[in-house]
Amino acid sequence: MFPCQADDIPTRGSTGGVEGKDAPCGKFRRTLHTRCGRRARTPASLPGSKLEPMPATVIVGAQWGDEGKGKIVDLLAQDSDVVCRYQGGPNAGHTIVSGGETFKLHHVPSGILSGKLCVVGAGCVVDPGLLVAELDGLEERGISTAGVRISGNAHLIMPWHVAIDSASERRLGRLQIGTTRRGIGPAYADKAARIGIRVQDILDPKILRQKFETALSEKNVLLERMHGVEPLEVEELAERMEECAVRLRPSVADTSLLVDRALHEGQRVLLEGAQGTLLDLDHGTYPFVTSSNPLAGAAATGVGIGPTRIDRVLGVAKAYVTRVGEGPFPTEIQGPEEERVRDLGAEYGTTTGRERRCGWLDLVALRFAVRLNGMTSLVLTKLDVLSAFAEIPVCTRYRLPDGSETAEFPAHQSDFHHAEPVYESLPGWQATLGGAESLADLPDPARGYVRFVEEWLGVEVSLISIGAERDRVVAPHGLASVAG
Ligand code: IMP
Repeated sequence: MFPCQADDIPTRGSTGGVEGKDAPCGKFRRTLHTRCGRRARTPASLPGSKLEPMPATVIVGAQWGDEGKGKIVDLLAQDSDVVCRYQGGPNAGHTIVSGGETFKLHHVPSGILSGKLCVVGAGCVVDPGLLVAELDGLEERGISTAGVRISGNAHLIMPWHVAIDSASERRLGRLQIGTTRRGIGPAYADKAARIGIRVQDILDPKILRQKFETALSEKNVLLERMHGVEPLEVEELAERMEECAVRLRPSVADTSLLVDRALHEGQRVLLEGAQGTLLDLDHGTYPFVTSSNPLAGAAATGVGIGPTRIDRVLGVAKAYVTRVGEGPFPTEIQGPEEERVRDLGAEYGTTTGRERRCGWLDLVALRFAVRLNGMTSLVLTKLDVLSAFAEIPVCTRYRLPDGSETAEFPAHQSDFHHAEPVYESLPGWQATLGGAESLADLPDPARGYVRFVEEWLGVEVSLISIGAERDRVVAPHGLASVAG
């Protein structure tokens, strides 16, 4: 059995994290939850509010990933106790700028920079070597990783997964998906085939070695005969993995129990998605998707709590759209303006360094994301990037091959592949948003842009990000209301 010590869970009135220090500011006070009697937090700035805040909030990417979720999680983590990743692996790259320093996180939840308890849930896949490097890198920069807990049920990405990912992309040639080549698809495929190796297997070197022997008897045939890649050697692999295991063993925990206990304690839990809605294995732009479910619904299974424990779903969307990898992208900008958006937004992949494809805001796809995630509010990021443009096209409908127009995301992939964007042009503001602290400080056309999005989607924009630093945000209804 691996631990979920009671002292893993921050005590009431703590700022969270493993040390359980008293909250530095009196921003939040505790109230008794009237429905179930459990304790919940109420933003002190909303006295007498009828809307009782609840603790579990999902933060989900509303486009093709890279929406800026890391910054939002980092910001909301300040007033949270536990931050969990529920799917994906080192294909994710969350960039966070804090105190003038830039951090790029791949496995570890973004709450780590605020010293919170950080859970890597069962729905994730973990590359042990990369995780150890990430933890060591954080420690070297003075960030404690003592609060990291990894689900024993998460699956391991093994060297053969990485080799097969790259080899199959090569084999696919121009039909390739454009994966991050981190072994994500092959690792999730083995999980579904029930031949995966799990994090809990690193607890016993003998079991781990046996699993390597069994796996390699098949994978080496595949590597050599099908992909023409060098076979892997059990002994060398077992040695390499044992080094990682020594480092990771103390962090392996029953994270489902840990999160459940935290919720019972009335702690505030953030469930952090990786990738984005349109990369969802079931509902995204298949086959140009990832191999897990970024959708908010998957947060419950990915962490191991019931869906009724989730109270809020914050969708995060850029004020425009980017995509890395292959696949259809109706609002992709053709011509020099794409380069301009890419340069202004520094749109290069955090994980792979690839240029991101850039496009105008697609409200058809975003409406789809609102629906699929049951979004309770939207966070709009990188609004400042659009400041350079005199006119900003926004796609409100698709024109389908039969000439009809629709505001609904096409259910059939051929319709989507051939969909032409129908734009409305909104006035730009051509002024810096640099000093804005409230909605009223934004130029009229920028407020108009936000209002247009809200009206079209039927969902409130609760936070607008206007720069890379944590404090470069505008919260139209107050920061305390964003995650409850
Ligand atoms: P995989 O997840 O590496 O298998 O890649 C599948 C698709 O998802 C490719 O198009 C990748 O570019 C894309 N993808 C995976 N992770 C991310 C991410 O964190 N941000 C953006 N795109 C991603």
